[in-house]
Amino acid sequence: MQVNATLPPQALADVLRTMPKAELHIHIEGSLEPELIFELARRNGVALAYPDVESLRRAYAFTDLQSFLDIYYAGASVLLKEDDFFDMAMAYFRRAVADGIVHAEVFFDPQTHTARGVPFETVMRGLTRARETAQRELGLSSAYILCFLRHLSEDAAFETLEEALPWREHFIGVGLDSSERGHPPEKFARVFARCRQLGLRLVAHAGEEGPAAYVRSALDELKVERIDHGVRALEDAELVRRLARERVPLTVCPLSNVKLRVFDRLSDHNLGQLLASGLVATVNSDDPAYFGGYLHQNFVETFAALPALQVREAYVLARNSIEASFAEASAKARWVDRLDAHFESFH
Ligand code: HPA
Ligand code: ZN
Repeated sequence: MQVNATLPPQALADVLRTMPKAELHIHIEGSLEPELIFELARRNGVALAYPDVESLRRAYAFTDLQSFLDIYYAGASVLLKEDDFFDMAMAYFRRAVADGIVHAEVFFDPQTHTARGVPFETVMRGLTRARETAQRELGLSSAYILCFLRHLSEDAAFETLEEALPWREHFIGVGLDSSERGHPPEKFARVFARCRQLGLRLVAHAGEEGPAAYVRSALDELKVERIDHGVRALEDAELVRRLARERVPLTVCPLSNVKLRVFDRLSDHNLGQLLASGLVATVNSDDPAYFGGYLHQNFVETFAALPALQVREAYVLARNSIEASFAEASAKARWVDRLDAHFESFH
């Protein structure tokens, strides 16, 4: 496909919004908007450390990953009932459809909730009902990926896996998130080996704040199929060649990387270099309620900041997202056909 056109910003923004695409790196707890936090706090009688939405929003000034995680886990404390999880997920699914997403693979952090006494079942019932409603009412395809919190122990991850098994058909895979530094992937090698035996799909956050070596050990020790973030892989030329050769997708989150100071400015982001190095990069929102926008906002701001990104790169990123997803081959082929039709006019 020849998609060499150069478009003015508004026309490019339209293409970016309407092109069919998948989102592969979104934490559902990170889609919890301050307004919904306050509504759920009221509904559930939970006291918050901030008097109003504005003061909570003002606290969203992060210096690194941990400074974000502290406030992100505090925000999740208002989630108690099945309906809370349903409302949160439905709000994300509506935003996803508005941004032209046809398929979303959505992380959830059960340990954040079970540690507060919320039953695993409550989380899963709310999320599952939302997923089914989004399919039926919005025509959106989606799937859940259970994330283990890497600052907790291997034993805790094994316990969570046990609790999750009765719900096996409601999630397609497992991931690894939370504080990266000091918690290398290999800490969870045995848990991931067990998940692999169970036929679960495997992904892990690596190379966000942590070194390129963590990307390598996520591949070698956890045998993951995608790397979440992975932007620091570029520090290791041999690793970059391997990622390109093995076509390992990276779920890159540009606005997140700036908010958490992985890059000082969006114009410093290495997405253009990742693509130029032949890597299967995708664009994602990570925690859109905290980082300044949903998927479309990530696309528009990143394309505005990086002049190397044009129509061709829009096509490649959308196509990568579909191909890197865990959806069935027939669904992927259908979405790629729609994508090609969308870009037909740029031949
Ligand atoms: N990194 C690690 N853990 C997370 C993130 C992230 O960007 N978002 C939610 N949990
Ligand atoms: Zn993430």
